[in-house]
Order: sequence, then C-alpha cells, then structure tokens
Amino acid sequence: MKTSIAHYLTALTVGIGVLGLTVTSAAADDIAMGKQLFGEACAVCHGADGKGGGEFASELKTAPPNLTTLLKDNGDVYPFVKVYQTIDGRAETRAHGAGDMPIWGTVFSRDATGGTQPFSAELLVRARMVALVEYIESIQQP
Ligand code: HEC
Repeated sequence: MKTSIAHYLTALTVGIGVLGLTVTSAAADDIAMGKQLFGEACAVCHGADGKGGGEFASELKTAPPNLTTLLKDNGDVYPFVKVYQTIDGRAETRAHGAGDMPIWGTVFSRDATGGTQPFSAELLVRARMVALVEYIESIQQP
C-alpha cells in the first residue's frame, strides 16, 4: 500500500523536527548535513541518487528532475542561487501555479524551533538550505 504524499509530508515534518536537534552541531560539515537532509526530505521524489526515480515520482504531475545534471545543463556553472531559491520556494513564482515541489522554506522554518526561538529560526532554515545546495553540487556529474 502506498502512503499518500500528504501523509508523507506530515511524517516528514516530524522527522525534520527531530533531525533539527542534530543539525546545529553538525554545521561544520555542510555536505554531510545536506546528504542527511536530502535522504530525509528529497529522496522520496528525486531518488536517493538525485536522478529523479523516487518512490513518489510516478504520482506527481511534473516528474522530479534529475538533480545531478544541473551543472552540465547550465554550461558547467553550478546554478547555486537558482537551486537555493527553488528549494526555499518562498520567493518563487512558479511557472505552473502550485508546483509539486514542497515549499521547503516554509517546512523548515515551521519545524526549525517549534516556534520557541524566533531569532535563530531563519538562520537555521538558511543553514539547512545551503547544506542541501552544497550537497547537490557535490553530486553533479561531469
Ligand atoms: C513531493 C516531491 C518532491 C520532493 C519531496 C522534493 N522535490 Fe524537488 N522537485 C520536485 C518536482 C516535481 C520538481 C519540478 C518542478 C517543480 O514542481 O517545482 C522539483 C524541482 C527541484 C529542483 C529544480 C531542478 C531544476 O531543474 O532546476 C531542485 C533543485 C529540487 N527540486 C531540489 C529538491 C530538494 C533539495 C528537496 C528536498 C529538500 C526536494 N527537491 C524535494 C518534486 C519534489
């Protein structure tokens, strides 16, 4: 039996909340943190290897893109800012209205601190997104 995406996102929010406790101490190793977050939050659609074959891929209107060819597809320049903004999603005007991709900026900020530490929440959110962007950079294929 397949779990619904909504169900998955609820479970994920709880999961990331727990993960958040370890994130601050792991900040020294962004790529390791990004890899961990990727496995928790992204692999279900983008696949564990980032190539788009996640378990929910077939249920989406838009297929999750292969994230290992962003460098190649952008003339050998890793599109850091674009990747960051796509993951954040809060400032994004999506071409097709509400995209299938969750707005991670909102998800991460909701569970960053459980609302108890408003000052550091946004920093933690940004640290997570930078870690993800750097991790995705590390899996680019030539
Ligand atoms: C529910 C499925 C789903 C999950 C979970 C998901 N994505 Fe996506 N992602 C998509 C889809 C579908 C697209 C294609 C366009 C869109 O809807 O925005 C996309 C697009 C992207 C892009 C843009 C790639 C390009 O070609 O420019 C990046 C980068 C990305 N996702 C990273 C992530 C990261 C990092 C995570 C985890 C924090 C994540 N995604 C989680 C479905 C998902």
